[in-house]
Amino acid sequence: MIFVTGGAGFIGSNFILDWLAQAAAEPVLNIDKLTYAGNPYNLEAVAGDARYAFVQADICDETAIATLLSRYRPRAIVHLAAESHVDRSIHSPDEFIRTNVNGTFNLLNRALHYWSTLPGPEQADFRFLHVSTDEVYGSLEPQSPPFSEDAPYTPNSLYSASKAASDHLVRAYHQTYGLPTLTTNCSNNYGPYHFPEKLIPLVIANALAGNPLPIYGDGMQIRDWLYVTDHCTALRTILAHGATGETYNIGGGNEQTNLHVVHTLCDILDELAARAQGSYRDLITFVKDRPGHDRRYAIDSGKLERTLGWQPAESFQSGIRKTVQWYLANGEWVRQVRSGAYLNWLRQQYGDHPPGALI
Ligand code: NAD
Ligand code: DAU
Repeated sequence: MIFVTGGAGFIGSNFILDWLAQAAAEPVLNIDKLTYAGNPYNLEAVAGDARYAFVQADICDETAIATLLSRYRPRAIVHLAAESHVDRSIHSPDEFIRTNVNGTFNLLNRALHYWSTLPGPEQADFRFLHVSTDEVYGSLEPQSPPFSEDAPYTPNSLYSASKAASDHLVRAYHQTYGLPTLTTNCSNNYGPYHFPEKLIPLVIANALAGNPLPIYGDGMQIRDWLYVTDHCTALRTILAHGATGETYNIGGGNEQTNLHVVHTLCDILDELAARAQGSYRDLITFVKDRPGHDRRYAIDSGKLERTLGWQPAESFQSGIRKTVQWYLANGEWVRQVRSGAYLNWLRQQYGDHPPGALI
């Protein structure tokens, strides 16, 4: 089997659903602490699948992680668990250091102990796939080429600094102990199950509720958007064929200003769910900028494309339309997540055992 940490979050849920959709997929154990961002209900579709199991645990918990490793003997760990929201890292960085740095350290440390006891062939097959971000490279000037794997680390937020630290730990475990690691640095994802504190789902949810659409600063910051299932495909490819000790950048080749993204969302909503009067664009409100706000990110995925043959399947136009359609069809998910009501619902429906929970 494989372990997935943070599997109840946005990318983790999509990764597990995508993984189990492959007929020959190995079973998955989803290890998630269930912070505010973790919703095991995202995985209800696979709750009855014998290949899926869930355990609520903190990646910082040495005993829990050591016990799970020796009991289930995974072939790989796909490490997604993290505190992931830049704005939250500005207000309360502690949890980012604890989970992203100390949690990754604990996971690496426990994985090394486990890996070193494996017989030769299992040791050779084992992989630790660390999922990281393009934000570790800092901010690009308008004319600079996109970030390659050789770009220097210059993180500017507490979030990106904590992710950079975790990337360095992963590198050191490979260089020093030979742990077979893989690191990925991906650009901004979007798609189903995206927590509505991040730009795209926040704008869709606010627009449908008739609330202001907050744009930080002048809205001309640039992000490189990748549809989440394309990220999942890249992770599967790298896990299967990536060279250990290597880093792979993953991006969508879709550089857009925030204002353009928000205009696009408003235009699709005007077409699919028109307001009684006016356009959703009327709700756009410029607000105070994010401190230390990175101006531009862009990723060069050339290495992944050339060496492992990966290509994104979705364009920005197709992916953003699918995303709006998903949120229109899943208004109840947004309402439950925003109000926290899903926590009550889960308890009522499953008691202490969320979908797939190991008892
Ligand atoms: P998310 O915030 O939606 O989900 C994070 C998950 O981790 C949640 O389910 C949460 O409960 C869990 N978690 C948090 N702390 C934990 C702990 N101490 N122990 C166990 N579980 C814990 O995040 P996401 O957007 O799905 O991102 C997943 C990973 O991908 C992160 O490592 C992030 O840095 C990276 N990443 C995200 C993006 C993006 O655009 N969202 C892009 C590139 C890389
Ligand atoms: O680049 C990858 C990163 O992308 C991931 O590592 C992070 O986990 C993920 O959260 C994301 O970080 P960003 O800060 O780029 O995403 P966010 O959705 O928070 O913001 C996208 C852009 O939109 C950013 O320039 C800030 C801006 N913004 C965001 C919000 C929430 C607004 O203008 N208004 C908003 O209300």
